[in-house]
Amino acid sequence: MRHPLVAGNWKMHGDRESVANLVTSLLKIDCEAEIAVFPPYIYVPLVAANIGDSGISVGAQNASEHDSGAFTGEVSCHMLRDFGCQYVIVGHSERRNIYSETDDQVAHKFAAVQSAGMTPILCVGETLEQRDQGKTLDVVAAQIEAVIERVGLGNICEAVIAYEPVWAIGTGKTASAAQAQEVHLALRQQLGDSGGKTRILYGGSVKAANAAELFMQPDIDGALVGGASLDANEFSEICKLA
Ligand code: PGA
Repeated sequence: MRHPLVAGNWKMHGDRESVANLVTSLLKIDCEAEIAVFPPYIYVPLVAANIGDSGISVGAQNASEHDSGAFTGEVSCHMLRDFGCQYVIVGHSERRNIYSETDDQVAHKFAAVQSAGMTPILCVGETLEQRDQGKTLDVVAAQIEAVIERVGLGNICEAVIAYEPVWAIGTGKTASAAQAQEVHLALRQQLGDSGGKTRILYGGSVKAANAAELFMQPDIDGALVGGASLDANEFSEICKLA
């Protein structure tokens, strides 16, 4: 039985006041699913201190693949662990597209996160052009394969995977539940026997209004929520549906 996970990716939003208010609201959510939130780096200690032992997890949106050294502007996995992070998102499409992260670099980051004792949330997904060309399953399989090559099947199965079609992120367009399930099933099959325990989240314009149908799919184990995770009521509804 896979425990559903609802992860809120706050991206580069908020200030001290809004972060504190959001955490106060999160603490009131009563749900079965695990909740994890991903504030901008600088707010991680504030969130970690305020969530206390509520059971809510905190994570980072990115991490350096290097342990330490002359990497101006970067934050290492060890530092994130030191401040209470349990999860790190790796390979988000905004990192791949805006910051040109390659499959190889993503795999490196994935390995660094696990070595530091945290759980990666590995994002994969196709662009609209790739979907239109019928390449969706090949694209996500290649993104997964790059990580398997570096860490092995056993380690990737310990992580969380998030299928996020690039065309659905922040656009208001969601993959239909059937489109998402098709990809989730293919990903699980790629993971082999141990893939039965791996949580595979869906992400891309998830809201309270479309979450129930997505969560009914047998291979969808929760959501990675962007925009709607900044709205306490909306996020709380999604968590209760998972
Ligand atoms: P969205 O973002 O929910 O705003 O589409 C999802 C994500 O980027 O993880």
